Amino acid sequence: MKLGTRTLVAGLMMVAGVAIAAEATDPTVKARQELMDTIAMNTGVLGKMAGGENPFDAAAAEGAKAAIATAAAEIAAKFEPQATDPKTTAKEDIWANWDDFVKKADALKAAAEGMDATTLEGVQAGMGGIGGSCKDCHTSYRIPS
Ligand code: HEC
Repeated sequence: MKLGTRTLVAGLMMVAGVAIAAEATDPTVKARQELMDTIAMNTGVLGKMAGGENPFDAAAAEGAKAAIATAAAEIAAKFEPQATDPKTTAKEDIWANWDDFVKKADALKAAAEGMDATTLEGVQAGMGGIGGSCKDCHTSYRIPS
């Protein structure tokens, strides 16, 4: 059971593209990449607890959950200017399908808010929704690296 959860979480983290890839110089692109890095870092905190790599810590879990929800609420504002940079991995489809992109950002916010971060089981149960919303948006709107 424990191994199963760990494998699942590792898989989710991989599909989410958690590896920090590009480093843009355009300030708008840089800011949105940094927002994603914040989201990824906090997802990593939850993922390591869920997988048993780190012990469960309710305060840290709550902090990470709140940080993801707050950052998810900033996705639309940070991505709205259609800035570009040689190092961006954002697809132009974002701005052609803006409402759908915002819907996917809202889905991440809802998944984070819906997670019960007070117990390990709650975090484990919530990881699927969070990881799934990263993957859902990246599949449509991020150039795979
Ligand atoms: C609403 C869409 C959306 C959601 C939801 C989303 N991402 Fe992203 N993410 C993007 C886009 C678009 C980029 C490419 C940004 C760029 O390079 O300009 C990106 C880039 C990234 C990057 C690379 C940042 C860099 O420094 O280049 C990481 C890491 C990342 N996302 C992690 C995550 C994780 C983890 C989640 C879920 C917890 C998530 N993202 C949810 C759209 C999304």
